[in-house]
Amino acid sequence: MRTVIVYYSKFGNTRRVAEAMAEVMGRAGEVRVVGIEQLTAGDWEGVDLVVVGTPTHAFSVPAAVRFVLRVQPQGILAGKSVAAFDTTVRAWPFRRLRASPKLLRRLRRLGGTPVAEPETFFVAMHGAPAAGGTDLLEEGQIDHARQWAAKLLDPS
Ligand SMILES: Cc1cc2nc3c(=O)[nH]c(=O)nc-3n(C[C@H](O)[C@H](O)[C@H](O)COP(=O)(O)O)c2cc1C
Repeated sequence: MRTVIVYYSKFGNTRRVAEAMAEVMGRAGEVRVVGIEQLTAGDWEGVDLVVVGTPTHAFSVPAAVRFVLRVQPQGILAGKSVAAFDTTVRAWPFRRLRASPKLLRRLRRLGGTPVAEPETFFVAMHGAPAAGGTDLLEEGQIDHARQWAAKLLDPS
């Protein structure tokens, strides 16, 4: 199994989830973790499973990610398994409006075959952003990431 995990991360949490998943997936095959800013067409080549993870921004997929996915060639993910996750603030209003279902729809539109339901990893806000506060993964979310990664390797 060759996997690429593509992520976008403003504060580092989505990257941490991607890296925890890669630790597990690396035991079962080849895995690469790529920041979406560095993504090139070659990153899709020879890959069986594509996982994309982003934070939820404004109840949806961050604009930077939407842009990158919009310019991918039609059908680029045909024949590949795909999965999507987001990081979301548990206490945010309208929490049901999260990025991963929309992200998965975009991956399917590029030809990918979903192998799992969209997944969410929760972060909590620590302090006011203006005072240097940030969002940090809730306890247990790295374990959750490892478990979800193991499930993606064996979706049956
Ligand atoms: C511009 C902006 C908009 C956001 N909108 C939402 C939102 O609609 N819902 C939500 O749950 N969290 C929202 N958040 C919080 C992010 O989900 C949180 O910062 C993110 O999960 C942290 O991941 P990262 O460390 O990988 O950036 C927003 C954050 C930013 C910076």
